[in-house]
Amino acid sequence: MKRRYMMKNNRKNTKKKYSTPPNKGGRSGARQKHPAANPTQQKPVSKPKKPKKQQSADTPHTQNIQWFPGHMTKTKRQIERDLRLVDAVAEILDARIPTSSRNPDIASLTAGKPRVILLNKCDMADKKATRDWVNALSSDTVRAIPVDCKSGKGVEQFVPALSELLADKIDAYHKKGMLNPTMRVMIVGIPNVGKSTFINRIAKKNKAQSADRPGVTRGNQWFTVAKGFEMLDTPGVLWPKFDDQTVGERLAFTGAIKDNIMDIELLAIRLLDLLKELKTPAFIERYSLTEDDLALPSYELLAVIAQHRGMLISGGEPDTERAAATVLDEFRAAKLGRITLEFP
Ligand code: G4P
Repeated sequence: MKRRYMMKNNRKNTKKKYSTPPNKGGRSGARQKHPAANPTQQKPVSKPKKPKKQQSADTPHTQNIQWFPGHMTKTKRQIERDLRLVDAVAEILDARIPTSSRNPDIASLTAGKPRVILLNKCDMADKKATRDWVNALSSDTVRAIPVDCKSGKGVEQFVPALSELLADKIDAYHKKGMLNPTMRVMIVGIPNVGKSTFINRIAKKNKAQSADRPGVTRGNQWFTVAKGFEMLDTPGVLWPKFDDQTVGERLAFTGAIKDNIMDIELLAIRLLDLLKELKTPAFIERYSLTEDDLALPSYELLAVIAQHRGMLISGGEPDTERAAATVLDEFRAAKLGRITLEFP
């Protein structure tokens, strides 16, 4: 499906004038502190040179990321149509950003349907934060389970969670004499949360024999997940809505939005705002950071990271662009630790 991303970056006003107040507030701000690393292991470093361009500490700065997905209404209608055919919905979120990776329309679109929330990529998320999310999201009609679809960890909990959610419905069929009812499920989620990875992992190869079943739209393909459970083979792709710029940024941090259309130095600086607060040992050790480094404004911290990694341009100046790409890549590969950026 074609997606169009756009970023408006008012370069006139924002030309590398980074101001990076740590994000301390807000519903989804990084509020929990990770245990700090042992400061005795940290090397002293020379003070970084100021980056080439003039910096300003008092210019509020965020990237104005705008995303114009095509065919949004059409797809939403398609999802609404398909939802009529299913008994339950499986909603996939990114466990590192469960708020930002959620389409706010899901609740209304799926109203009345039992829902399993899969907190995917939990291998890259903080374990305690994931447990807190599981508790916060679970309710009578919702089961939240942490999964790592890449390795398959946790995926085995999916069918039991569905059975539990649909127990009354299955029971009602039994009472009517239908001993082997088939329950149908649909996967929904924003791009890149791991819908295809999940489907590939859970698909039993046999396509369901659905053509002669009443209510099943011609063209919809179903596959068997387990005895009595079928899943629609095309996931419902919904887009995140980010009126709030932090949502866009967090999707960019995790790689859900391509960063080649953004100012990656600025993006890395915003990520460093959060990483400085979380202080994961892996982050501190990987870049040999001292407490003094962590107290620096993030644009200076980026220069320190460039120096520590030997990323220099002619004249010995820190190559902050290269360092920015490295920080983003290493965050996305979980080399800076298992990091959750949003908390319930
Ligand atoms: P989508 O259908 O929702 O768009 O997502 P998709 O399954 O394509 O997954 C997007 C990326 O996320 C893929 O990486 C996939 O491997 C990765 N991924 C999915 N689930 C997990 C998980 O539980 N843990 C981790 N660590 N990664 C996960 P990619 O780099 O785009 O592709 P590939 O190189 O892995 O093939």
